[in-house]
Amino acid sequence: MPTSNTPRIAIAIMAAGKGTRLKSKHPKVLHEVGGKPLLAHVIAAAAKVVPAADVYAIIGHEADRVRQALQHTGVNFVMQEEQRGTGHALMVAREALAPYDHVIVLSGDAPMITAETIARLRDFHLQNKAAMTLLSAELENPTGYGRVLRKGAKSDEVKAIVEEKSATPAQKKIREINSGFYAFGVTPLYTRIGDLKTDNPHREYYLTDMAAVFGKAKSKVVALKTPNPAEILGSNTRSEMMDIDALVRMAKCRELMDAGASIFYPQSCVIDADVEVGPDTIIEPFVQLLGRTRIGSDCRIRSYSVIQNSEIGDRVLVRPGSILDEARVGSGAIIGPYSHLRPGSEIGEGAHVGNFVETKKIKLGKGSKANHLTYLGDADIGAGVNVGAGTITCNYDGIHKHKTEIGDNVFVGSDSTLVAPVKIGKGAYIGAASCITEDVPEDSLALGRARQTTKEGWAKSKREAMAAKKK
Ligand code: UD1
Ligand code: CA
Repeated sequence: MPTSNTPRIAIAIMAAGKGTRLKSKHPKVLHEVGGKPLLAHVIAAAAKVVPAADVYAIIGHEADRVRQALQHTGVNFVMQEEQRGTGHALMVAREALAPYDHVIVLSGDAPMITAETIARLRDFHLQNKAAMTLLSAELENPTGYGRVLRKGAKSDEVKAIVEEKSATPAQKKIREINSGFYAFGVTPLYTRIGDLKTDNPHREYYLTDMAAVFGKAKSKVVALKTPNPAEILGSNTRSEMMDIDALVRMAKCRELMDAGASIFYPQSCVIDADVEVGPDTIIEPFVQLLGRTRIGSDCRIRSYSVIQNSEIGDRVLVRPGSILDEARVGSGAIIGPYSHLRPGSEIGEGAHVGNFVETKKIKLGKGSKANHLTYLGDADIGAGVNVGAGTITCNYDGIHKHKTEIGDNVFVGSDSTLVAPVKIGKGAYIGAASCITEDVPEDSLALGRARQTTKEGWAKSKREAMAAKKK
């Protein structure tokens, strides 16, 4: 229960930069790791520590695109029209942050930060009653990061942060780096932020220089060293980003395995951050599970299947090489090998969709089967239906899409074409190779093909006639 002396805390995420080092036309913070924009990861962690309404993303480069991609998170956006450095990013957020006592500052390009670490930074900051608290980390290879200059080896207090480009050879040997995550008292920050100067190689306002500014003003600056240096990794280049992607995805695999799923050769699988998989489900090598995909328990997803934004029930077998996109598959169904379930496919409980079958915007009822070489589009198919090999719903007349309705327990013979709009009543039978253009009543047989003619002995006499000619 917040009381009058509970400090009001905001989180600001610096996300306005262009990402020059990525050599991309897309804004840096929309580049993805684990199938999700960098900034979305940071927002997700921030919104576990404070309400989304107290999170401020500072955006600038391609701001409209960034805002559009992340509007659904409910955070606020602050515009930094011109990007004149991390210090400048906080200068433009002054008004937005005025109602708060403290602000935690995160970097939009460091997506592995967790809510636990943000909370630890907050608590350390409040306990120390510091003007500025920074999260630091000890890295094997600190190249490229700002270095932390402590007042003494054992001291929590910090004298300054020196950027790689301005560091002396001795300072470059320091392995304690600045993570780019901070906590500030709002009043001390904005009392002193005007003291920042741009006397550095980039001619920018560095937020890191606040450590020295506070030092001069005798305000307290402390550093908290994180025990999990991986959490602070920034993604300034494509290869750094792919290193982070591999870490995020492996962490995701471990999370799913801890929850009871088996993943063979997890290094070969591509599983996005928001995917859910139930216990005792087995994921074979080279599977991709993307977007908001949810898979139930006791399923087996065989190799080379790519499943995106789809929902799969329990005990489903997806055989090799199947592609599912915005599809729903009921429990006990069998899909593949090589099935393509396109958006709006709803496969019923225990149904089978087999080799080289393509579906789009259909309902396939409980226990129905379409096992071979078939296209089913814009169709409502009941339960217990057998769709023979090579069946095609002709749903498109060149201008409009039309619907095919097939009642329960219908038997569609192989190689049938069903020209929509058309209805096949319950229990009806379609003779193989029929072209069905008219509705078929319940329980009837429909044949839409030429009657077979058989000429006995014809082939034999033909052969004999040809042989006589040859002589
Ligand atoms: C920064 C720190 C460095 C630290 C490192 C950790 C500074 C000067 N240096 O360096 O000490 O070790 O992070 O990853 O802060 N941004 C804005 N507006 C701007 C400039 C940047 O919003 O005007 C955003 C960027 O989009 C990015 C974040 O701030 O998300 C950090 O900027 P970046 O240029 O990546 O800083 P680093 O060089 O990584
Ligand atoms: Ca960075």
